[in-house]
Amino acid sequence: MKNLKKKNKITDFELILNKNLSRRNFIKNGVSFGLSSFVLAASLNNSLANNKTSSFDFQQVKANTLDTVTIPDNFTWQTVIRWGDPMWTEGEDFNQSSRGDAISQKLSFGDNNDGMHLFKKDNHNILVVNNEYTNQKVIYGNRNRQSAENIDDINKAKAAHGISIVELSFSDKWEFIKDSKFNRRITADTPMEISGYAKGHKLLKTSYDKMGTKCLGTLNNCGNGKTPWGTYLTCEENFNGYFSCKNKNMQLSEEFIRYGIGLKDWGYNWANYDERFDISIHPNETNKFGYIVEIDPSNPGSVPRKLTSLGRFKHENAELVINKDNRVIIYMGDDERGEFLYKFISNKKYSMNSNNKDLLNSGKLYVAKFNEDNTGEWIELNPKTTGFKSQAEICIYTRIAASKVGATSMDRPEWVAANPNKAEVYCSLTNNKNRGIKPNKGGDPSPIAGPNNRKNNIYGQIVRWSPKNNDHSSNFFEWDLFAMAGNPKIYDNIYAGSENINIENMFNSPDGLSFNKEGVLFIQTDGRYTNEGEYIGMGNNQMLCGNPITGEIKRFLVGPKECEVTGITWSQDCKTIFVGIQHPGEKGNSNFPDGGNSVPRSSVIAIRKKDGSEIKFIS
Ligand code: FEO
Ligand code: CA
Ligand code: CA
Repeated sequence: MKNLKKKNKITDFELILNKNLSRRNFIKNGVSFGLSSFVLAASLNNSLANNKTSSFDFQQVKANTLDTVTIPDNFTWQTVIRWGDPMWTEGEDFNQSSRGDAISQKLSFGDNNDGMHLFKKDNHNILVVNNEYTNQKVIYGNRNRQSAENIDDINKAKAAHGISIVELSFSDKWEFIKDSKFNRRITADTPMEISGYAKGHKLLKTSYDKMGTKCLGTLNNCGNGKTPWGTYLTCEENFNGYFSCKNKNMQLSEEFIRYGIGLKDWGYNWANYDERFDISIHPNETNKFGYIVEIDPSNPGSVPRKLTSLGRFKHENAELVINKDNRVIIYMGDDERGEFLYKFISNKKYSMNSNNKDLLNSGKLYVAKFNEDNTGEWIELNPKTTGFKSQAEICIYTRIAASKVGATSMDRPEWVAANPNKAEVYCSLTNNKNRGIKPNKGGDPSPIAGPNNRKNNIYGQIVRWSPKNNDHSSNFFEWDLFAMAGNPKIYDNIYAGSENINIENMFNSPDGLSFNKEGVLFIQTDGRYTNEGEYIGMGNNQMLCGNPITGEIKRFLVGPKECEVTGITWSQDCKTIFVGIQHPGEKGNSNFPDGGNSVPRSSVIAIRKKDGSEIKFIS
């Protein structure tokens, strides 16, 4: 979801300054990059300059601004499910003029699909998809003010949020199965349990939950994760945007300010119809959001659980790794300017044959510190290191706890992805206009340093790190930059990006990251699609493939107008890739996927080879 609304301009002074720091000199001298990044750049020079052949077995797609999905010629795509498609026969087909109501939405696929995973249970393909948010202009596009006007509008929006679980089948194309016993909608009102260290804490007690052990709904479900015990992890990101306050004189606490909770919401208007979202009436309600939620998709009656031990912040995704000693590691980004990167290590070990249900409730939470010399460390967040009274409080006010230990403020950590072939982890740092300009909401400075090496970082970068001794539980790591996005068409300095970025493959704002089984890194973007000025030549948002060994990056897909490309999963036979197309036409300029004058609808698409064979990216 976009946090940036205004165009960033690099000042004239900075342009002059940067001219003296040409890209070539920058790479040669390893300025700001450190030694290991220099090594990457040098090997890239050799492999890309001297050997023009690509390591990827597909034709690069050119940047474009078309209102459709563009993929290489020997691939084909189809729509699988769209916002508002009824998942049960009692539901109504999407109504183009009303755009649905609360009743139809409760029975339909949610809006703004984001992270997702396809589970295989016996012979069933169960697709679990996050529905991150609603775009008022689109869902209330039939209203004069293009905003919620009554309680039904609010209930429709709440039902468009959460998670959609839907069974799929394949014959000659992918279809969803109406009325499947696995189909389920989880929304902003679904009853849930609170688990982990903060369960029962007084900060979670509200008038409807005197024990602090329950809550209603999940919000702004962005990226995702999955566990080897068959559960889905959904990550609550910009939950603050739903809360507001009728009492405009209310003094905001330090905690509200740090989490961006204020007197005004982001245009959802829920508090006017549901006082649960009014922070002066129910301040602790806010503490029930900002978690990772675990869902069992194979059991439609199961109660989702908020995993408080993993911390509370604007969770992007949850990358789970089983460490060599079988403890569970989860890497997590907090997507806000100048916020942090986290890691959780379970106390107990994963075992295929035992009950792993409570593995994510007890463990240690760490935050990352990046040093200038390409080393880094994980600092544990506990009462001793943070001065907090209890682990429960650390789990509720995680950002504030992390500020106490000197964590590195990052350029908006988005998805984290672990290389399946080696102990190496990647994270998108999508952009940060405040870098080198102003501190984060907690007052932590944002110096131009380490992996956050550009002032007014409008393009973003991908950092990667290797844990010491290939042990994900180690407190130490070494890092470098896999890529710095940039525009070599208009810049010959650090804003041109790293050497593996060129005018053919450039992009901005890397966001979704995921590896396939081959070890190809998929990079999805949520950036500016103006195709003008600093973004000229980049076209619509897109998906690219990255080779972690050679550093090559090649564009595989361009999305339709005004969309974000986010969410990716594969069929078990690797013949299909499912990709999320979120908010096409968010400013009113798309009719994706149905064309004509139809309402633009976020959709999951399926991509296959035209000959139906297994998709391999590396020949
Ligand atoms: Fe929902 Fe940080 O993207
Ligand atoms: Ca994003
Ligand atoms: Ca995202």
